[in-house]
Amino acid sequence: MIKSLKRLVNGEKGSERTKEELLEVIKSVPLPEHVAIITDGNGRWAKMRGLPRTAGHAQGMKRVREIIRAADSLGIKVLTFYSFSTENWKRPKDEVEYLMKLPIEFLKTDLQELMKRNVKVQMLGEKSKTPSATQQALIEFEEKTKENTGLILNFAINYGSRDEILHAIRQIIEDVQNGDIDKEQVNEQLMGQYLLTKGLPDPDLVIRTSGEIRVSNFLLWQLAYSELWFTDVLWPDFTDEIFYLAIEDFQRRSRRFGAV
Ligand code: FPP
Repeated sequence: MIKSLKRLVNGEKGSERTKEELLEVIKSVPLPEHVAIITDGNGRWAKMRGLPRTAGHAQGMKRVREIIRAADSLGIKVLTFYSFSTENWKRPKDEVEYLMKLPIEFLKTDLQELMKRNVKVQMLGEKSKTPSATQQALIEFEEKTKENTGLILNFAINYGSRDEILHAIRQIIEDVQNGDIDKEQVNEQLMGQYLLTKGLPDPDLVIRTSGEIRVSNFLLWQLAYSELWFTDVLWPDFTDEIFYLAIEDFQRRSRRFGAV
C-alpha cells in the first residue's frame, strides 16, 4: 500500500486499524449518498505484469463487483461507474470488443446477486451506439431490476458530459419554443431534470484511481460541489478497504457549498 494510504489506514494516532474497525468509524458518521468512480489504470496494471490490456479489464471487473458489494452493504444510495466514455471508441478494435462484452458477461454472472441485493441498475449514455448484444444486455439489466428499491447502480457507457449538457440545452430550447416551458423557468433545478441523472442526487464524492488528476468529461454539471478524491492505486488494485478510506476522508472534510 502506498505511503499516503498507509498513513490514512493507521489513523491520526498512528495505531494500526483493522478493516472492521475502519468500517465501524465510517458507519458512525453520515455517509456520502452518491459516490461516483472513474475506474482508471486497468491497462497499466496489465502492462506491468506483461499481460494483455484485457487482463486488466478482467481484474477491474472483479473490483467493480467488490465495490458494489461494499457500497450496498454500507447502505450508500447511489453508486456510479464511468465505464466507457464516448472517446473510448478510439481504442484498438479488440479491446473495444472486449469491453463491450463485459456487460453481457456481468449480466450472466451477477444479475441473481444484484436482484437479491435489491439493486437497481441504470445506464447513463447512448446505448443505441453499442453492439446489439451489448445493448440487449444493458436493456435487460434495466428492465429486470427496475422495480428494485435498494442501491441505484449507474454504469456510464458511451457517456460524455458535454454531449449530455448539449442535449439538455437543445431539449430545453425545443420545449421553450413549443411553449411547454417559459424561458423564466430555466434554472439549475430545471436543467437537472433534462440530464441523464434526472432524479438522482449529485455525487457527494468522486473517486479517480491511477494517479490521473482530471475529470475527463464526466458529470461536469453534477460534480460542481462534489468532493474529489484521487489515488495512485490502479483500479484493479482498488480494494473495498481503500474505498472505506476514501469515504473516511470525505467524512473528515467540511462541505460548505460556497458558504462560510
Ligand atoms: C480504464 O482503464 C478502464 C476502462 C476504460 C474500462 C473500465 C470498465 C470496467 C472496469 C468494467 C465495467 C463494467 C460493466 C459491467 C460495464 P484504462 O484502460 O484506461 O487504463 P490505462 O489508463 O492504464 O490504460
